Amino acid sequence: MPLIPMVQCLEEAEKGGYGVPAFNVNNMEQIQAIMQAAREVRSPVILQASRGALQYTNGVYLKHLVQAAIEENPDIPVVLHLDHGNSLESCKRAIELGFTSVMIDGSHLPFEENVALSRQVVEYAHEFGVSVEAELGTLGGIEEDVVGEVQLTDPDQAEEFVERVGCDSLAVAIGTSHGAYKFKAEPKLALDLISEIKRRVGIPLVMHGSSSVPPELVERINKYGGKIEHSYGVPIEAIQQGIKNGVRKINVDTDTRLAITGAVRQVLAENPAEFDPRSYLSEGRKAVYEVCKERMIQFGSAGHADDYKPMTLEDMIRRYKNG
Ligand code: G3H
Ligand code: 13P
Ligand code: ZN
Repeated sequence: MPLIPMVQCLEEAEKGGYGVPAFNVNNMEQIQAIMQAAREVRSPVILQASRGALQYTNGVYLKHLVQAAIEENPDIPVVLHLDHGNSLESCKRAIELGFTSVMIDGSHLPFEENVALSRQVVEYAHEFGVSVEAELGTLGGIEEDVVGEVQLTDPDQAEEFVERVGCDSLAVAIGTSHGAYKFKAEPKLALDLISEIKRRVGIPLVMHGSSSVPPELVERINKYGGKIEHSYGVPIEAIQQGIKNGVRKINVDTDTRLAITGAVRQVLAENPAEFDPRSYLSEGRKAVYEVCKERMIQFGSAGHADDYKPMTLEDMIRRYKNG
């Protein structure tokens, strides 16, 4: 099936009361791993590429890797999403490449500027039937390493923001942060805030910075020569509660990065004479597959790939036109 719009994926998730993991991708092995997991557990897929991923792959390699993934898996619904677009230009580039969804992240801008930029992207993207995720509130870093100020999403502002922007989903700040160093102890996230925002905005909510940083993945890296400090990620139970409260898309990048790195390190450490990239990259791919499969099951998207009657961007153009 062709790539589907994010709107359809998140509406299905809403109907089924589940969350869909959105995995960041940069290369063939990550995409293959995600698709293998989805095939096995029958999950819809959200593949997302950051601006860094587009730079790394020159866009065109990524586009064709995703084409290969859908050609190989014609019965799995797949969304291709731009993660953290920061300008209308970055969103335009993704739309040109065939992405069916873009994120415009104006969360660091003053409210009015965030509204204006996000609205501009919505107007542009909807003309092409492309879905838009916007963000309000800012994610945090670990205590001494906070980049900018952590600002949880305010429900009053969220209501006004969504009303004025017309985005299809909203990324909210509830205390998570990006990367491998999130918390120094088991975190307390603002999970009740999710219910309140959801009640006010109606549209599906998105959780960024949702890697769980499993200790076994960190230990594997360190056992084979790595140096990753221990920290706490987002507990799976917190994400599951978030899903109950209205989260439908959960962004995961760090966990698959840790997985691939640990596996590659192990192969190279145990086989110092090895120099065939296939030997270590296939082990890396297997480790990513395991994480992805686990998240699809934990977030509840497993078992739902066959619910879809795929929608196209043309369907969405008609829908946006008819309000
Ligand atoms: O939110 C950021 C994602 O983890 C992507 O990271 O910009 O290094 O590709 P990146
Ligand atoms: P993690 O760093 O927790 O995996 O978050 C990824 C993310 O939010 C990508 O947008
Ligand atoms: Zn993010």
